[in-house]
Order: sequence, then structure tokens, then C-alpha cells
Amino acid sequence: MNDVSFTVNKGETLSIIGTSGSGKSTLLRTLNRLLSTTQGNIEFRGKNIMDIPVIELRRQIGYVLQEPALFPHWTIEKNIELVPQLLGWSKENIAERVQELLELMQMPYKNYGTRYPSELSGGEKQRIGIARALAAKPDLVLFDEPFSALDPITRSDLQQEILRLKEKLKMTSVFVTHDVKEAFLLGDRVLILDRGKMIQTGTPKEIMNNPVNDFVEKFIATEYEL
Ligand SMILES: Nc1ncnc2c1ncn2[C@@H]1O[C@H](COP(=O)(O)OP(=O)(O)OP(=O)(O)O)[C@@H](O)[C@H]1O
Ligand SMILES: [Mg+2]
Repeated sequence: MNDVSFTVNKGETLSIIGTSGSGKSTLLRTLNRLLSTTQGNIEFRGKNIMDIPVIELRRQIGYVLQEPALFPHWTIEKNIELVPQLLGWSKENIAERVQELLELMQMPYKNYGTRYPSELSGGEKQRIGIARALAAKPDLVLFDEPFSALDPITRSDLQQEILRLKEKLKMTSVFVTHDVKEAFLLGDRVLILDRGKMIQTGTPKEIMNNPVNDFVEKFIATEYEL
């Protein structure tokens, strides 16, 4: 990966778009050190991530994947509790947090807390995936194509959910998608990747008005029929 440089400000969403294999997931994984960089550096809250113990870093960064990979033999409550429990939160604080998160995701505890993942729809599972990522109040949340496997209506609902969370929690996030519309809807700024290179970055409006090259223009045109 080359020529990639960007900043995500507090409370902001950065969308990353690019075709399959362009390096979106790879870039995301460098942010929480699931992959390490050979060149360049990454700072988190003003500190080089290599100077932050990896466990501490990951505790501050939530991660939501396309498949939420919930533990099948654990209830929803237990799945959400995992990280706060690892962090040694008190029982009361954990219970309160689970209630709060389920409320936030519009899946009240009394209806969902004791269910198992197999008893949820795809969209509900992904809501729990998001709740789990938010459980320990991370400073940054990484999303890797979280809605790709969902039908358009559920997808649209969850996109609105993300906008709501951003407003309500002042959530800071990096959101990977190959869907141009989704990227433009959710991102305050958008970064376009092609074959491991950053092609353009800017607000959705800037990119729409001034695509830097044919590739970007084509990419936008596929969705917006320009
Ligand atoms: N663990 C790995 N080892 C070596 N190469 C890898 C590894 N993971 C991904 N790659 C390669 O790096 C490139 C970028 O892959 P990446 O998964 O980041 O793409 P992506 O943009 O997320 O694609 P998609 O939209 O399909 O998820 C691809 O050429 C891929 O084959
Ligand atoms: Mg990917």
C-alpha cells in the first residue's frame, strides 16, 4: 500500500471506498494493528500506535465486520458483555451497559437479552455486532463492509442507525464499503482507494464536483448515472 495519508477527526466518519482487492480491509487492519505497516506511521490520539501496547490500543478501537461472528452458545447479553468483562468492569456497570446498548440498538433487553444468536435475523445480528463493538465505549470504531450481506431495506435502516449513533454518541469511525451511495451518505469525508493507492480524498460534494480522474468519475457514475 502506497501514498495513503489521512486524518479522522473526533466525531467524524471517514468512508473508504474502492473496488474489491483495492486494499480497504488491509488499510483498516493496520489501524488496530492486526497488520503492521512496513513504511509510514499511524497516530491515534496524537500517539504513534507502535508506542501503544496492542491490547490497550484494541480496547479503544471497536471493530465491526461483515459477519458479526457472535459466539453461538452465548446469549446476546453475554456476547455484548465480553469486552467490558475483560476490562474488569463491575457487574452492575456491565449490566447497566448491556441494557443501555440494547436500548440504543432498539432491541430491548427483555425481548432479546437472553436469546441466542441463531434466534436473530441477519440485521439484528449486525445490530448486536455493533453493540458489542461499542460496549467498552471505544474512541474509534472501524466498520468493514458491515451491511454487505443484508437486504436493501435492512441495510438502509442500519445506515440510519449509524447516522443516529454518530449524532448521539459523537462516534468517530472509519467505514469501509464498496457502495458509493453508502460511502457518501455516511462519510463526512471519503477516501477512494485503487490498487493500494489513495486516489482521492474529500467531502462527498468535493468528490462529486471534482473527480480527479476517469476512475473516480466512473466509480461515481455507476451509482449516480451521471
Ligand atoms: N493476508 C494477506 N496476505 C497477503 N495478501 C493479502 C492478504 N490479505 C489480502 N491480501 C491482498 O491484498 C490486496 C488487498 O486486499 P483487501 O482484502 O485489503 O481488499 P479489499 O479492498 O478489502 O477487498 P474486498 O472489497 O473484496 O473486501 C489483495 O490483492 C489481496 O489479495
Ligand atoms: Mg475487504
